[in-house]
Amino acid sequence: MKGSTVLKSVFLSVLIALVALPAAAQLTPKETLGKALYFDRALSSPSNMSCAVCHEERAGFTGSNPGINKKGAVYPGAVHQRFGNRRPPTASSAGDSPVFHYDAEEGLFIGGMFWDGRATGWVTGDPLADQAMGPYLNPVEQNLPSEEAACVVVAESVYAGLYEEVFGPIDCSDYDDDGHLKAYKNFAVAVAAFERSEEVSPYDSKFDYVMAGEAEFSPQEALGWDLFNGKAMCSACHPAPLFTDFTYDNLGVPRNPDNPFYDMDQVFVDGAPINDLGETWVDPGLAGFLSSLPEDWFEVYGLEKSAAVDENYGKHKVPTLRNVDKRPGRGFAKAYMHNGSLKSLEEVVAFYNNRETMIAEGSIVPEVMANMNVDELGDLGLTEEEEAALVAFMKTLSDGYQP
Ligand code: HEC
Ligand code: HEC
Repeated sequence: MKGSTVLKSVFLSVLIALVALPAAAQLTPKETLGKALYFDRALSSPSNMSCAVCHEERAGFTGSNPGINKKGAVYPGAVHQRFGNRRPPTASSAGDSPVFHYDAEEGLFIGGMFWDGRATGWVTGDPLADQAMGPYLNPVEQNLPSEEAACVVVAESVYAGLYEEVFGPIDCSDYDDDGHLKAYKNFAVAVAAFERSEEVSPYDSKFDYVMAGEAEFSPQEALGWDLFNGKAMCSACHPAPLFTDFTYDNLGVPRNPDNPFYDMDQVFVDGAPINDLGETWVDPGLAGFLSSLPEDWFEVYGLEKSAAVDENYGKHKVPTLRNVDKRPGRGFAKAYMHNGSLKSLEEVVAFYNNRETMIAEGSIVPEVMANMNVDELGDLGLTEEEEAALVAFMKTLSDGYQP
């Protein structure tokens, strides 16, 4: 009798554990195809680079080389001398950004992917899929010569059958009206499906367990959560549960003097320097993307292009804070902000709390002074204990929590 009760309760607790824990990720064929495309180094020239190199799970799907994170925070491309200009944001929990648009009521640009929103969603209808069309062909990233070249790699890969199962026969010469290879768009759609899957975006952080009533914040985390939504005003731009409102702001973060892009006046692609401005380059953020759009795009919204460009100079997309602390171990270096200039969550919170004093004392010089947000940050009056509580709260946002 007794024995079977014990057995029963063991069985029950195993069952409860199984129910409470998210099931091991079961990927659909489309997600599995996306995973193959995400990890395939053959999709680069030379064959040494995949999405995962710059967006690795153990670092919260961002760059996982601590040596790089401590310095320039920008990752080399398949051709190792070539560098882009920004730090990789997380590829996790990135699937909810709306198609890039202007919200006339709010007077704000919203949505899209990348720090500057240029992966709009106008090609595939999904900003995340539009984003995935970029890296394979970008000469400072995976550097393939054409969509067709990518298609041939997939057609000859071990997972070609999986493509056929999901999308039908693979055709590397069938183009859409917009000039993109249909198969290449399908690759991007599959990658986006993988990025949204339980494997990349499980939403199983301590925060999620607390919200579901299955775990409790420590007193310090609870204080941080209160401050986040109150005195520290973080939720004005990073509202739960996604921790971003998909808008753009210039926080006045300093430039990162170690950004390797400053040396890209000496490295050439097709005869032109990657960065002809060298050291003097300033990241225009959203303004850089807006300036690439035609005048009549702005007219639809009753905007004037030059004014819109000026007003958005130096603004970057509000990143999600999910997995912001995820790292393989204590002391593993990560980097924050579009240029990786801030190196720890403690530094980030101190920046939000004291930016005005730091600028006045000259201990930081914003990369861009124009359009700096002075309403919701800069002089928050947080105590040391409150700063630490905010950091403790952000640490609850790492996926893979074991209650
Ligand atoms: C060499 C490093 C590198 C490689 C390879 C790379 N990325 Fe990125 N990724 C970046 C950088 C840097 C950014 C930010 C660029 C910007 O905003 O201008 C970025 C941005 C993103 C974003 C946008 C996140 C957001 O919140 O806006 C996603 C999603 C993403 N990458 C997924 C991928 C996928 C999928 C692949 C493979 C097809 C890939 N990356 C390959 C470095 C890389
Ligand atoms: C006015 C809007 C706004 C407010 C308020 C705000 N943030 Fe941010 N946050 C941003 C933007 C925009 C960025 C990216 C800026 C950049 O890279 O130049 C960012 C970046 C971050 C990052 C770096 C994430 C990464 O992946 O690099 C952290 C951490 C962060 N914020 C935490 C906070 C906390 C904590 C608070 C409250 C004390 C807060 N934010 C308040 C808009 C805001």
